[in-house]
Amino acid sequence: MAIRKIAQIGHPVLRQRAREVSPDELASPAIQQLIDDVIETMHDADGAGLAAIQVYEPVRICAIEVRNNPRYPYKPPIPLTILVNPVLTPVGDEQFDNYEGCLSVPNLRGMVKRHVHVHVKAFDRHGAPIDEVVHGLKAGTFQHEVDHLDGKIFVDRVTDPSTFATWTEFERHHKPAFVEQVTKLVTRVGS
Ligand code: NI
Repeated sequence: MAIRKIAQIGHPVLRQRAREVSPDELASPAIQQLIDDVIETMHDADGAGLAAIQVYEPVRICAIEVRNNPRYPYKPPIPLTILVNPVLTPVGDEQFDNYEGCLSVPNLRGMVKRHVHVHVKAFDRHGAPIDEVVHGLKAGTFQHEVDHLDGKIFVDRVTDPSTFATWTEFERHHKPAFVEQVTKLVTRVGS
């Protein structure tokens, strides 16, 4: 295992479309090592998720986990999940406002619209199929990570640039209202 360097916004790798991983490749030591490294790098940086493309490996793999996260204390827990070749499909039209940050975008948060309910089809790190519907903040995290695999960063989806805030100013001026709003969402949809 190794902690890898995280690509920062402006590096062209973050704007690539990551490629699919074949079943044989997924089973290879190199890709299994990459998955371990993505997990370790995510833990080290206190991320709620990290895509392989963010450690300069443009393949369609990402890790998601929320467990007492100091960057996002209001997020309900998400068990460690590895998505390989994920495909997300919105379920219904409902959206919510999500104040997002990203390990590739230092010290910036901004308000993004995300679907409340999303159908996820993917494979886990062992090639077993994942087929489920996720909701709320968990659905927001999935959408953020899968965006990375298509070369998209949350800043692309910020429709009102006046919502951009440093982490300190988010804490001071935006967090109370946001936490109140997402707490209602979490209560309603369960995550
Ligand atoms: Ni990100």
